[in-house]
Amino acid sequence: MTLRDLTIREMIPADIPPLLKIERVSFPVPWDADMFTIQLYLSKYAENLVILSGDRIIGYISSWYGYEELHILSIAIAPADRGGEAAAMLLAAAVKRSREKGCLKAVLEVRVSNGRAIRFYEKHGFTQVGRRKGYYFDSGEDALILDKDIGNGIDRGKD
Ligand SMILES: CC(C)(COP(=O)(O)OP(=O)(O)OC[C@H]1O[C@@H](n2cnc3c(N)ncnc32)[C@H](O)[C@@H]1OP(=O)(O)O)[C@@H](O)C(=O)NCCC(=O)NCCS
Repeated sequence: MTLRDLTIREMIPADIPPLLKIERVSFPVPWDADMFTIQLYLSKYAENLVILSGDRIIGYISSWYGYEELHILSIAIAPADRGGEAAAMLLAAAVKRSREKGCLKAVLEVRVSNGRAIRFYEKHGFTQVGRRKGYYFDSGEDALILDKDIGNGIDRGKD
């Protein structure tokens, strides 16, 4: 996978079947088609982007806007395509778009056991600002709350 192969565009309903395949191998409680459909329906208040390698969808990011915050709900890259630039490109694209819409902060929750995702976010300037006890209903696991200032030229790390 080279950088030149990778393109980002807004998610459309036809993307849902390939996204479900990525979802099922990425999360203990994967989103179903309805979740993606709701995200797309609410697109006025949301940012839903997919990344393609050639014409193959290899990942996505979904977020909501609210109170000058970009709330990142989900990001996933197909397992074979992790460890490259795809996740960083998606995150950067979502942050750039949200900044243009006036967002000052990006925020997200992540499972305490998800070391890879935590490392990924920290690498891109997010820091832990809180913890939600028993946040995940499937396992009772805690969530870490991470955020990053993205507005007014303040930037604690690269995006
Ligand atoms: C989270 C995700 C999008 C990040 O994409 P990625 O391509 O894996 O990201 P990167 O490779 O750029 O960064 C991951 C970092 O974690 C490191 N890492 C890998 N396994 C790790 C582990 N078990 N514990 C801690 N760090 C780990 C990698 O070495 C890398 O750090 P480095 O660049 O300093 O070497 C991707 O892993 C994914 O789709 N995961 C499944 C879905 C998910 O958990 N989404 C996040 C929900 S909050």
